[in-house]
Amino acid sequence: MNNSQPFRISLVGLGTVGMEVLRLLRDNADLIAARAGRRIEVAYLCARDPSRERSMDLSGYAWTEDPAGMGGVDALVELIGGANGPAYATVQKALQNGMSVVTANKALLAHHGYELAKLAEERSVGLACEAAVAGGVPIIKAMRDGLAGNRITGVYGILNGTCNYILTRMRETGQDFNDILKDAQARGYAESDPSFDIDGVDTAHKICLLAAIAFGVKPRIEAVCVNGIRYLTGTDIGFATELGYRIKLLGVAQAHDGRLSLSVEPCLVPAHSPLGVVEDVYNGVFVEGDFVETPLFTGRGAGGAPTASSVVADLIDLARGHRIPAFGIPAGSLAEARFIDAGELMGRYYVRLNVLDRPGVLADVAAILRDHHVSIEGLLQRGRDPDQPVSVMITTHDGTRYGDVAESCRLIGNLEASVEAPCLMRIEDDL
Ligand SMILES: NC(=O)c1ccc[n+]([C@@H]2O[C@H](COP(=O)([O-])OP(=O)(O)OC[C@H]3O[C@@H](n4cnc5c(N)ncnc54)[C@H](OP(=O)(O)O)[C@@H]3O)[C@@H](O)[C@H]2O)c1
Repeated sequence: MNNSQPFRISLVGLGTVGMEVLRLLRDNADLIAARAGRRIEVAYLCARDPSRERSMDLSGYAWTEDPAGMGGVDALVELIGGANGPAYATVQKALQNGMSVVTANKALLAHHGYELAKLAEERSVGLACEAAVAGGVPIIKAMRDGLAGNRITGVYGILNGTCNYILTRMRETGQDFNDILKDAQARGYAESDPSFDIDGVDTAHKICLLAAIAFGVKPRIEAVCVNGIRYLTGTDIGFATELGYRIKLLGVAQAHDGRLSLSVEPCLVPAHSPLGVVEDVYNGVFVEGDFVETPLFTGRGAGGAPTASSVVADLIDLARGHRIPAFGIPAGSLAEARFIDAGELMGRYYVRLNVLDRPGVLADVAAILRDHHVSIEGLLQRGRDPDQPVSVMITTHDGTRYGDVAESCRLIGNLEASVEAPCLMRIEDDL
């Protein structure tokens, strides 16, 4: 590599993240050049509508409609978004044409990561995605490089700032989910269509990528069991708080004797634990490694500037000539993961029922739990108005089989006295 030559990039997508990448490359140009060993030069810009007003004067930059087809470009930065469509086509073409790619697009990599990583290796170029998970928190480098000597047994992450903000505000204000969601949208923390965030899809993309790195397996998005936070009520938040817990939407990847489990679900974690204190829009990732034990990484998981910080870190790596496989090991060595049936997972659980306050109802509930070997550890009831349903919270003992408690919840939900399906959550005491 001739280090006197600038490292030339095509920057595609000039929205929240793209504009901050441009600003960072401009404002810290000298420092970045010193660290990269050469200047990073923006050769071309590309967006859907070049005539659109942007937050920075772009008159000195060259534009192109074919960013992946231009000669003399070392890397393409994809900041369009979406698993398919223009992002996929652009990245694929850039790699085929011998350009390295830096992307913040978790959806793209969760769906096409293996194929794209393989293509990058065939063409001897890099594919880097630090910004795709936890925004400005360098969790991918930390797992892939800093923890590279460890056998990783579990990754637990608060990976979606929107959900963490909603859950934090529900607890602080006592307001219900829909009111807080509107507030989050008004503050710009939630999209007008928030379903990707609140239904857990965004977290699923991220935990899928972290699992690939942690366990050396091909990303398999369809293997992630996903539950979001839409159905949580103020009652659940209140019960959790009363028990000394916080509810967090966790992406969880665990190894169980050669098989894996991947899930996204709201879980109870101790209020003062490392993940319990990660509040508001912040992200936190807890990694279990055999020699390092349990390091925790926290910080801003989204936003233009923190995400740009990770994009530029990848560009500096590439400009230095460092080309590390996207998922830590060569794509050809990534294994096909074997997955454990979620029903087999053992743990401690929280179950919240909404039932009519009639004699015998709790006895019916207890009988269903007994018949499915679910042992009750604690029980709380709230509400005494005979005309209104009451909320009943049950915690199970540790060592409860998920399949048993899930089937019990299904049957309890079918009871005539049940007003709605029970809410079932894992209690994670060790995080
Ligand atoms: N925002 C965050 O906090 C954050 C955090 C982590 C990761 N990410 C990821 O970063 C990526 C970008 O997110 P963002 O929030 O910056 O998105 P955004 O604000 O919606 O910006 C998207 C950009 O893509 C451009 N674009 C759309 N279709 C295009 C096409 N066919 N060809 C060229 N450009 C096209 C748009 O052009 P116009 O401006 O002309 O419409 C726009 O500039 C996504 O993958 C996202 O998941 C975002």
